[in-house]
Amino acid sequence: MAGVMDIIKKRRSVRSYTGEPVAKEKIERIIEAANHAPSAGNAYTWKIAVVQDGGLIRKIQSVSPGMLGRPAAILALCNDRKKAIETMGSKGGELFRFMDVAHAAQNICLMGAELGIGSCCIMSFNQDAVGALLEIPPQYRVDYLVALGYQDRDPVAPKKRSVEEAVLSWTGG
Ligand SMILES: Cc1cc2nc3c(=O)[nH]c(=O)nc-3n(C[C@H](O)[C@H](O)[C@H](O)COP(=O)(O)O)c2cc1C
Repeated sequence: MAGVMDIIKKRRSVRSYTGEPVAKEKIERIIEAANHAPSAGNAYTWKIAVVQDGGLIRKIQSVSPGMLGRPAAILALCNDRKKAIETMGSKGGELFRFMDVAHAAQNICLMGAELGIGSCCIMSFNQDAVGALLEIPPQYRVDYLVALGYQDRDPVAPKKRSVEEAVLSWTGG
């Protein structure tokens, strides 16, 4: 069985897909993983809009320059800004909500990797336009997109830093 580090190292940003759909049960498993991500104040101010409709995916892509290839699904991580401010104050509305979706997205990508499903986190998209396409309630904001699909080729593995390069300082120990 693969350990956490194996899955972490296996995950890559995938930007080229086979077109095979991702089964509902696998997307549910991925969302379950997101639900176990850390959340500021355990507030979970985000919800996920799942898009598997090919036409809507294409429309979202038309306002998302950073979304490459033709993913089988898009998970739009949408935050309830009102709830974020009510539960976490101004920092909740400006910062924590983004940190929360980043943690959730990491779990999504790692669960995807375990299930053999490629993923790509996307910030290069028009928030207002995607929100309008998804017809999300007004208090929600689309804060992050994760594209999902089966990869059609091995993605390029970018060079990663060594432990030494990542450490700024280390006191004690
Ligand atoms: C906050 C954030 C925004 C990103 N936005 C995009 C994007 O708009 N389009 C894209 O193709 N990749 C995007 N990525 C993926 C990065 O380009 C990718 O993680 C990086 O190149 C390292 O490659 P790896 O994920 O395979 O390790 C984003 C990643 C993060 C964390």
